[in-house]
Amino acid sequence: MKVLFAAPQGGDARWLNALSQALPGAEVRTWEPGDTAFADYAVVWRPERDVLRAREGLKAIFNLGAGVDAILRFEREAPGTLSRNVPVVRLEDTGMAAQMNEYATYAVLRYLRRFDEYEIAQRSAVPQWHVLEPHRHDTFIVAVLGLGVLGTQVAATLASFGLPVRGYSRSKKMLDRIDTFAGEALDACLDGAKVIVNLLPSTPDTDGILNRRAFERLARGAYVVNLARGVHLVEDDLLVALQDGQLAAATLDVFASEPLPPTHRFWREPRITITPHISALTLCEPAVAQIAEKIGALERGEPISGIVDVARGY
Ligand code: NAP
Ligand code: GLV
Repeated sequence: MKVLFAAPQGGDARWLNALSQALPGAEVRTWEPGDTAFADYAVVWRPERDVLRAREGLKAIFNLGAGVDAILRFEREAPGTLSRNVPVVRLEDTGMAAQMNEYATYAVLRYLRRFDEYEIAQRSAVPQWHVLEPHRHDTFIVAVLGLGVLGTQVAATLASFGLPVRGYSRSKKMLDRIDTFAGEALDACLDGAKVIVNLLPSTPDTDGILNRRAFERLARGAYVVNLARGVHLVEDDLLVALQDGQLAAATLDVFASEPLPPTHRFWREPRITITPHISALTLCEPAVAQIAEKIGALERGEPISGIVDVARGY
């Protein structure tokens, strides 16, 4: 069995070793420009277009992350880049849900308990000892956009703190302790909410969803936590909403341009907390174990989960 590995990050040796160990007998190689040789499977993260182009013999493309937008964008820009009969398979959890839980919980509780404001007070020229009125739990409504593998767990964890949690997805869900909304009901999900936690995939339907219209539906002085993709956010709308007080603060892990350029306006806005796309990292061993398990199933002719619906976009 031949396995092609293509990812922009360093650490290839770790991935190649892990794949070789998990797939005994497989010949695992790193893609180099010009490599169009046969492979049974491709394991990729944000690959160059040429990695995927004209790979008829492939049995599956495994994406080393939950979001497949980088791959599907090729297909949208140049239809036919992906062979129609080759499934694109994404990672399902592999340790990402626990990380997202930690990150989202930290971000929401930091705002609930107003730690962001105490941090600013401590850093001011004359440090200020000043007790702020706590936010009330019953009006601190959290709208989790995206109720998939990650959003469902994040919503459940936030609800466990006694916060009113709403969830938004494409198809209607029934979830314990979560008020759920679907499809056209985005406005109803956002109305009066105090926090948005975004865990949607990036698709033509969701890009730009964090915009002025959405912010205006929230309670005044609301918070935005974007953990999904930078293109979900209309950057100018965020800055205007922070300036006019409709939004109090934002925590952003993902950006339209990554790494976020040093000259970007977000770096200079104290109410924006920035992290470098780390809310849920792909963990090598669990990711490779899941991929190897799925390759085993495909080789035995068994069905697997996590196959992306290319037309739907996730
Ligand atoms: P998932 O299981 O595919 O869940 C996606 C959710 O979004 C589903 O609930 C889906 O609805 C909903 N959705 C999709 N399109 C929609 C639309 N047009 N309107 C309303 N809801 C829609 O994905 P996941 O594994 O939870 O991951 C979510 C995203 O998180 C990834 O795509 C990725 O962009 C991001 N992510 C970021 C990091 C990071 O480190 N920052 C790490 C991992 C993932 P249905 O349930 O009805 O299908
Ligand atoms: C990371 O951003 C992922 O989609 O897994």
